[in-house]
Amino acid sequence: MEFDTQTVHVGEDPKLEPNGDVTVPISLSATFARKDLGDITKGFAYSRLSNPTREALERRLAALEGAKFGLAFSAGMAAEAAIAMSLLKSGDHVVAFEDLYSGTKELFTAVMDERFNVKVTYVDATDTDNVKRAIKPNTKMVWMETPSNPLLKLCDVRAIAEVTKSRDIPFVVDNTFASPYSQNPIKLGADLVIHSTTKYINGHSDSIGGAVLTSNDEFYNKIFFTRMATGGVLSPFDSFLVLRGLKTLAVRMKRHEENAMKVAKFLSEHKAVKKVVYPGLVSHPQYALAREQMRGFGGMVSFFINGGVKEVKSFVTRLKLITLAVSLGGVESLIEHPASMTHGLLPQKEKAGVEDSLLRLSVGIENVNDIISDLDQALSPK
Ligand SMILES: Cc1ncc(COP(=O)(O)O)c(C=O)c1O
Repeated sequence: MEFDTQTVHVGEDPKLEPNGDVTVPISLSATFARKDLGDITKGFAYSRLSNPTREALERRLAALEGAKFGLAFSAGMAAEAAIAMSLLKSGDHVVAFEDLYSGTKELFTAVMDERFNVKVTYVDATDTDNVKRAIKPNTKMVWMETPSNPLLKLCDVRAIAEVTKSRDIPFVVDNTFASPYSQNPIKLGADLVIHSTTKYINGHSDSIGGAVLTSNDEFYNKIFFTRMATGGVLSPFDSFLVLRGLKTLAVRMKRHEENAMKVAKFLSEHKAVKKVVYPGLVSHPQYALAREQMRGFGGMVSFFINGGVKEVKSFVTRLKLITLAVSLGGVESLIEHPASMTHGLLPQKEKAGVEDSLLRLSVGIENVNDIISDLDQALSPK
């Protein structure tokens, strides 16, 4: 099956449903009758372990990332925490991209380091040699995001996978920004992919969720066990919402990407804008890598306006269609100010490049002329 057919069909089969349901029913039962005594990890026994609606979603997500296994969580952060708790222990070291979602840095710094003595070295992973140089004998994980949040930097997944494979270090890629429509890190050599399904995968800003995808049996078993032991599962209703959202992933992403390219070009030519970062612009320092490892360039555009906080404030208050809000990947356009919002809690040393004039725009699927007009009237007030 092609990708867009998989988004509609994998995990749901009306022929297997007793009443011929065309969509997988929301299976709300907390517990399931068993035919016999014995191992409750096999089949359905209790919804914290497995659930029919969630399992349908997990099968679809695994197919879309080209992975053998999928695990759905109650948040992207629950998925990340489960990976960290399953594969790291006190005394271990992690190499991570310096430009990362702030919540991931908080997990590493305030939880894994301060409470569990797992040290992290943040590197400029746009150069694979920096990743290689940071690896120590006790490095037990390499954690990347590409494109990264919020500066849309890329790292070379194939090249980093060569480094990690030769040293037997698990390599995790957060694929939230690209979505499986534009990039499949496991196919490029990563061992584990995580998603905040809250974003493009669900696509409608009405569910918080996360997922881990892997083809490695050992990692899957460990993370399944951690999820069972800690309980951060995606609810049946959210699983249904995400299954429904996924059906339009390919059509939504096509539109997000077309709109983002037009918006990025418009902003690049605007006199109130200092710099635009979008992997699809030739001016992006890693444009060639984006073309090589991604099938599209995504729907996120970051840009720096002339001025500082005062100019940013007056710009965002003039916006009418685009909403000032964190999160991304929904059908509606959202804008946020990383320095004070998503990345506001980070210590200064972990905020490299997150300047006061930076804005992160999640370009929605509205008519692009309306998005551009809104940006234009807010950037150049009469
Ligand atoms: C790249 C990235 N990864 C992970 C997360 C965490 O996901 P969630 O908010 O679903 O816990 C986010 C949230 O913004 C994100 O942007």
